[in-house]
Amino acid sequence: MKDEFISLLKSTGRTGIDAVIDYLCKAGFFEAPASVQRHLSHDGGLLEHSLNVCRVALKLREAMISLKPDVESRLPENSVIIASLLHDVCKTNIYRKNTKYRKNEHGRWEPYEGYDVDYSRFPVGHGEKSVIMLLRLGMELTNDEVVAIRWHMSAWNLAFQSYEDKCNISAAVEGYPLLALIQAADGLAANMIENN
Ligand SMILES: [Fe+2]
Ligand SMILES: [Fe+2]
Repeated sequence: MKDEFISLLKSTGRTGIDAVIDYLCKAGFFEAPASVQRHLSHDGGLLEHSLNVCRVALKLREAMISLKPDVESRLPENSVIIASLLHDVCKTNIYRKNTKYRKNEHGRWEPYEGYDVDYSRFPVGHGEKSVIMLLRLGMELTNDEVVAIRWHMSAWNLAFQSYEDKCNISAAVEGYPLLALIQAADGLAANMIENN
């Protein structure tokens, strides 16, 4: 899976992609879980999730282009690959392994290897954190890619008390088909492929 992930990213030929891959290798992206409990909570889960989102997004791209050919210009394949594989890089360094306890079938507590979350290293959010990390590594991103990665969680991490955030997300949802695609692929991967 790691080889597939890296070769997909390299296939885009995007400026800065080698530095991003280098960072992800060193910082633990390929070993990280996708979440603490919700989906793919195991080593390598984040890699698996990112590839699932990419596979779904590429299929959705084809489907949407066949239904509405004029969206093709806003959905270049490279953008779909970049936004889907890198939308959750913000999770690279937030999980720490820890021993947890759960009840077994006899009602007795037993230890298992789980994860804790620590946001303290760079607490600037979720999608916006991914964008900042990528730009800092020298990656070139189009506006469509920035918007898609920034808002991929859509209303799930929207600060509802913020009038400006509401206006921003409305504009993003209405005018950025790559966002709609990544958001749908992220939800479909997490809720239809990875829920067990
Ligand atoms: Fe996410
Ligand atoms: Fe995700």
